[in-house]
Amino acid sequence: MGELTAEKHVKYIISVEKRKDDLQSVMMEHIRMNGAYWGLTTLDILGKLDTVDINEVVSWVLKCQHESDIVGLQNEDGSFSGDIWGEVDSRFSYIAVSCLSLLNQLEKINVEKAVNYIVSCKNMDGGFGCTPGGESHSGQIFCCVGALAIMGSLHHIDKDLLGWWLCERQVKSGGLNGRPEKLPDVCYSWWVLSSLIMIGRVHWINKEKLIKFILDCQDTENGGISDRPDDAVDVYHTYFGIAGLSLLEYPGLKAIDPAYALPVDVVNRIFLGKK
Ligand code: FPP
Ligand code: ZN
Repeated sequence: MGELTAEKHVKYIISVEKRKDDLQSVMMEHIRMNGAYWGLTTLDILGKLDTVDINEVVSWVLKCQHESDIVGLQNEDGSFSGDIWGEVDSRFSYIAVSCLSLLNQLEKINVEKAVNYIVSCKNMDGGFGCTPGGESHSGQIFCCVGALAIMGSLHHIDKDLLGWWLCERQVKSGGLNGRPEKLPDVCYSWWVLSSLIMIGRVHWINKEKLIKFILDCQDTENGGISDRPDDAVDVYHTYFGIAGLSLLEYPGLKAIDPAYALPVDVVNRIFLGKK
């Protein structure tokens, strides 16, 4: 099996950050905040956050803050809209709950209704969808399980049923897919694995085969990780590949928290700092 070419991935992330003005970067402008999160967290997991000018990042993030607030986006049924245009999705429940918890402001929303809405997105197969009745999908499952974990409500989950659905996502190559009959993809190493950890069923997949699949998706020359072997790399799959390897306890990587999707030491600092 190959090894993680960590230094190449650091160089790749830094090179993408520097390339702000080319066509690809301009086309990705609308997800630059996501890109910053993926890139910065990758560098932190690899122990290389010191390569970044933190003050520059903080002042850019602050410039992006809008005067509206998360709390105002909770709807009567406990769901959350993504913004003023009103689209509802269990992704937005996770984002709202995770942010407010990190800010120690969870009591500002109706937590009971938020839990009930997520439970209403649960399906007969044990999984969760975007909205009530929506097809189970590993990405949405991460959002729903993560939000329930943060709100101390994992007892609403049938852990064996969901664990079975999630471990069936592992295909022959060792990679994980997002739902039945789909291709494996490195990013599900995060969405599926973090969910399995949160419900205590991670031992139901073959860890060695998954590690091999992720390592096979590296560009070992120029750095970066792709969705599947030999595809083009991007920052999203680089982050979720390395975050997945961290969950798999690959040597030399910082541990990452499966519910908050942030390094464990960062989460501890946030919560201990408050006490
Ligand atoms: C494509 O699924 C969708 C993805 C690869 C992203 C899944 C992740 C989420 C929904 C969670 C997002 C979380 C937050 C917090 C914003 P597909 O089944 O249509 O296609 P594919 O698996 O074949 O690519
Ligand atoms: Zn993907």
